[in-house]
Formats: sequence, C-alpha cells, structure tokens
Amino acid sequence: NLCGFPHFMLKEIQQQPESVQICLAHYFHAISEPLLSVPVNLNEVHILACGTSYHAGLITQHWIEQLVNIPVRVRSGSEFQEAPLPMTANTLTIGITQSGETADTLNAIALDKQRRLAQSEVFQPHLLGITNQPNSALSQRVDWTMPTLAGTEIGVAATKTFLNQLIVCFYFTLELALSRQAISPETVQAYWAELSTLPAKIRAVLQLETQIKPIAQAMINQQHCMVLGRGINQAIALEGALKLKETTYLHAEGYSAGEFMHGPIALLDERVPVIAIAPTDSTHAAMIANLRQVKSHGSPIIGILTEDVPPETASLFDHVLILPAIADPLSPILSVIPLQLLAYHLAVQRGLNVDKPRNITKTLSE
Ligand code: BG6
Repeated sequence: NLCGFPHFMLKEIQQQPESVQICLAHYFHAISEPLLSVPVNLNEVHILACGTSYHAGLITQHWIEQLVNIPVRVRSGSEFQEAPLPMTANTLTIGITQSGETADTLNAIALDKQRRLAQSEVFQPHLLGITNQPNSALSQRVDWTMPTLAGTEIGVAATKTFLNQLIVCFYFTLELALSRQAISPETVQAYWAELSTLPAKIRAVLQLETQIKPIAQAMINQQHCMVLGRGINQAIALEGALKLKETTYLHAEGYSAGEFMHGPIALLDERVPVIAIAPTDSTHAAMIANLRQVKSHGSPIIGILTEDVPPETASLFDHVLILPAIADPLSPILSVIPLQLLAYHLAVQRGLNVDKPRNITKTLSE
C-alpha cells in the first residue's frame, strides 16, 4: 500500500523518522540490561555483508575501532568465500543482511561456522546476525540475532533498512564498549541523548527535498558524478554512489576525498558534478582543501554540510544542503538521506522505474 506516495522508495525514505524511533525504543530499554552477553574477551570483529549492508559494515568498523579499540575487518560475502579471513578463538563474526537471505552473505556465514566447528576445542560460537527478517535463513545460522525493526521494505534500493542497521550497529558498539569498559556509562548516556534527537533531525533533513529536486533537474543529462567523503562519511560516499547507480543508471563513483586526489581527479571537468559530504567535524579542513582542487577543474560541487559551515567556505559550493548538527560519529545517519532523495528524484525525473530498477533484484538469493 503506497499510502498516497507515488513510489515505495519515497514512502520508505519518508518513513525513516518513525522506523528509527521504533528501533531506538526497542534498544533503549536494553542498554541497562544488555540483550546479548557479548563475550568480553573478544579480540577482533569480522563483518560479512553485501551491497548497502556492506556499507553499514564499513561504518560499524569505524565505530568499533574508534570507540572499542579492537580491530575490525569487513568483507563482502562473495570475497570471503574465496579468501576467508584469518581468525582466532576470540573473533566475533557479524553478518549484516536486510533480507537475511542474500546467498553470498549466507554462504560466507556458513563457511565461518564450519571453520569454527572444525576447531571446536577452542573456538566459541561467536556469530551475530543483524537483519530486518528475524525468521530468515541468517537467523538459523547465527548464535544471536538483532532485528532492525524497519518494517517491510518494498523498493529495491535499501533506504529505511540501512538507517535502522546503523542504529542497531551503533547500539551494539555501545554495548561492546561498555562491557569492555572502553567508554564510561556517562558517555553512553550522552550518546543516547544524541540518538534520541535523531527522529526530529531526520524530519528536518527530509525538508531538504524541495532543494534537492532542482539539483536532480540540473543533473538530468549528466553521464558521470563523483561522491566524496572523508573519515566515517567515506562509507556514505560509497552508499550514495550505489543509490545513484542502482536507481538512476548514472555512472557515480564513491571515493575517499583524500584518495580521490591520487588519480581519479583526472576525470573531472565541468561535466562531472561532485557531491561532497563535508560536515564540520575533524575531517572538514582537509575536505575543504580537497574541494578547492576539485573546483579548480571546473566541476560543480554540491555540498552536504552542517549548520555551522563557515561563510568563506560556503562560496566553494554551487548547491548547499545543510544538515542539523549531531555528534560526529552519528553524522552518517543524517548525511545519507539527501543522497537517497537525490537518487529518487533523479530516477523519477529520468522517467525510470525507481522501485524496480533494471538488472537487479531486492535479494540475490540462491
Ligand atoms: C543486492 C541488492 O542484490 O543485495 C542491494 O540489489 C542490497 O540493494 C544487497 O543492498 C544486499 O542485500 P541484503 O538483503 O543482504 O542486505
């Protein structure tokens, strides 16, 4: 049921304040009495996922490494089968999959489990699944399941399920950090206070839609586009580019802004717009330095910025989309939304079937 929306993708983007609220309410009660008994002797985390879920894995890697201070490796399910990661008895493996049925992710999890069973003397069953479908095949293969509670997602391009994956992964990071005393209960409380502001801030970001439509119009005939981010927003650059590719068939590349300077910048000219995710955090100054170079090659720049952007840098941008301020680690939860809306409106303005793009299916199961 479209409930008056023209497409499921737009409905699901617009549902995000409510779906995030439901997820926060579920996990909020859990922080004082944890949902999982996470083994405190973990010494590393592996994350296996594909597509948008893989990008949630990259953000989770950043969170766990920075807040818990243990190493995390993220592998696409298909790559893991060909080159399994070395693991120890105290490695936790997390499978992230919206559908819980993606064959590449399930096969990687099965291989991980098989390797653990072969070492049963010492290897603990440390497998966690994060999925929107708690009765899926994934849940049958893991020791714990954390539901993402986003409700049914019909549009092929993952939107609200991605945001809820991030909420669950951040909750898990806090629980792990707390159990290992890597952060104080006061810091956890401060993050919860920030998380509770998300539904209202997501609503504010959704108001940017009227500014995004003309940007989509300006991009209607473009062949290429670059999406740049630094730090934790590098993964959102990848996710934004994936959304654009999947729904609009535009050749969009997501890059770390720093790495982009080492070669790919040669692709730029006035026909290649650059979308820069540049919140005012510790990466901002380096990002602006990169963007000055981008500008000198003639590319129009669309900036996804935060409220406190200095006026002298605002002139670098041809279009500016301003996000509400939020604690730095949580910025991906807001910065992805303008990219979802841009992908949606560009696809619609190009006359494409945004809910069922060509060549792809919602779930690549066996
Ligand atoms: C792909 C879809 O086949 O599977 C992507 O086209 C999706 O949109 C990916 O992100 C992973 O899906 P899941 O269900 O494992 O999160």
